Amino acid sequence: MRALAAHGVEVSHGDVRALAGVDLVVGERESIALIGRSGSGKTTLLHVLAGLVTPSAGAVELDATTSLVFQGANLLPHFTALENVLFAERDGADSERLLALVGLEAKRDHLPRELSGGEAQRVAIARSLAQQPAVLLCDEPTGHLDTDTSARVLDLIEALRAGLGFSLVIATHDPDVAARCERLVALHDGVIVEESTR
Ligand SMILES: Nc1ncnc2c1ncn2[C@@H]1O[C@H](COP(=O)(O)OP(=O)(O)OP(=O)(O)O)[C@@H](O)[C@H]1O
Ligand SMILES: [Mg+2]
Repeated sequence: MRALAAHGVEVSHGDVRALAGVDLVVGERESIALIGRSGSGKTTLLHVLAGLVTPSAGAVELDATTSLVFQGANLLPHFTALENVLFAERDGADSERLLALVGLEAKRDHLPRELSGGEAQRVAIARSLAQQPAVLLCDEPTGHLDTDTSARVLDLIEALRAGLGFSLVIATHDPDVAARCERLVALHDGVIVEESTR
């Protein structure tokens, strides 16, 4: 079963063609690493899949809800860790349980500036999961973290995926991150140039 499909997606920023005809099917419970050098279109594609950017041509068929974890954690600075998660909560989600799942029960009343980078990223993951997405989109979720912390964040995402069963699309420059995914999709100048399955 598929969770979402992009067909012939094109996005232009002025005269820059960020995506030049992308076809991608994301299966239920599948994990995909989106790789490619800086400027190849990874973030743009994630934003299209998240519904934040409307393609100028082509379409995205969503059979499921998606939620995006931004490259920086992008938390609301004046609200606590728990409040940041609560704002995203959909009926039936339990923000306190999600904060506990990401190991931050004790930091629930901390403001983002009182959290480390890895902790803020974990709050951002809890916030995305509070939307109960069928597809979790992550934009270099470990880009700003040291090796140990990034391994812990990735272990966490994997454990949550095993438990909750969402699909994962993760943009990354890190070969260790890519190696954990079931499928690899490589972008170059806004088109998919290589796909492989492990
Ligand atoms: N808001 C914007 N205005 C103009 N050009 C943009 C905008 N956003 C992205 N671009 C351009 O679109 C192309 C794709 O950018 P995108 O952010 O998707 O790349 P990326 O693969 O995520 O890169 P990185 O690995 O550096 O995050 C680049 O050429 C970029 O300069
Ligand atoms: Mg990017």
